[in-house]
Amino acid sequence: MIKTSKMPAANGKISIAPSILSADLFRLGEEVKSVQDGGADWLHVDVMDGHFVPNLSFGPSVVSSLNGKTDLPLDVHLMVEEPMLFIEAFARAGADLLTVHVEAKDEIVGALEFIKSFGVKTGLSIKPDTDPELISPLADLLDLVLVMSVQPGFGGQAFLPSSEEQIRRVRDIITRSGRNIWLEVDGGINAQTAPLAARAGADALVAGNAIFKAADPVLALKQIRQAASDI
Ligand code: DX5
Ligand code: ZN
Repeated sequence: MIKTSKMPAANGKISIAPSILSADLFRLGEEVKSVQDGGADWLHVDVMDGHFVPNLSFGPSVVSSLNGKTDLPLDVHLMVEEPMLFIEAFARAGADLLTVHVEAKDEIVGALEFIKSFGVKTGLSIKPDTDPELISPLADLLDLVLVMSVQPGFGGQAFLPSSEEQIRRVRDIITRSGRNIWLEVDGGINAQTAPLAARAGADALVAGNAIFKAADPVLALKQIRQAASDI
C-alpha cells in the first residue's frame, strides 16, 4: 500500500469535485486552497494521453505536487488508452481514487485489481454513447462509477441531455449490486445542470469551468451544491 486513501465512502450527500483542468495553472496552489477553504469535497485531476482523447493534460508529477499540500482527496480520472502503463505511477504520486475507462484498450478487471493492490479506491467511467450495462459485472470491484456527460477531452462543453438516462441506468445498476458505490458525473455541470444530474441519481459532481472560470469560484461551488441538494 502506498498511502491510506482519503476518499470517503458514499454517504447520501452530494460531493463536489472541482476539476483543475479549468484552473489558472500559474496560481494552482491558490486555486486549490480557495476551493478547499470554500468547501470542496474532492479535487478532480484529468489525465489525458492524446490517444484516448485528442488532448494532453497532467502527469503523475502534478498529482505528487498536490499530494500532502491539500487535505482534499485526489480524484484522478485517467482518460488514457493503456491505464496499466500509468496506474502505479499515479498511485505512488498520491492518488486517492483512480478512474479508468471501460472503453480503454487494457483488460479492465486486471486494471481495477491493480489499482486496488495499492490501496487506492477504484472508479470506472463510461463515455456518453457507452452501454451502462457493461458496468454490471464489474460492480464488486468498484468504489465509484463516473458517467461522462460530455465527450471527454475538453472542459467547457455543454451537458448532454442524454446523460440523464445514462445516470438513471447506472443508479439502477448500483442499487441492484447492493454495494455502496459513488455515482459521479463529469462534464458541463453548473447550477442549472447539477439538479438534473442529482435527480437522476448522481451523488458526486465534477465542475471545471463553472467553478474556476467564475468571478467568484467559492460562490459558484456553493450554488452548485445548493442546486443539487434542493431537489
Ligand atoms: C472532460 C473532463 C472534465 C472537465 C470538465 O474531459 O473529464 O473533468 O474538466 O469540465 P467542465 O466542468 O468545464 O465541463
Ligand atoms: Zn474528468
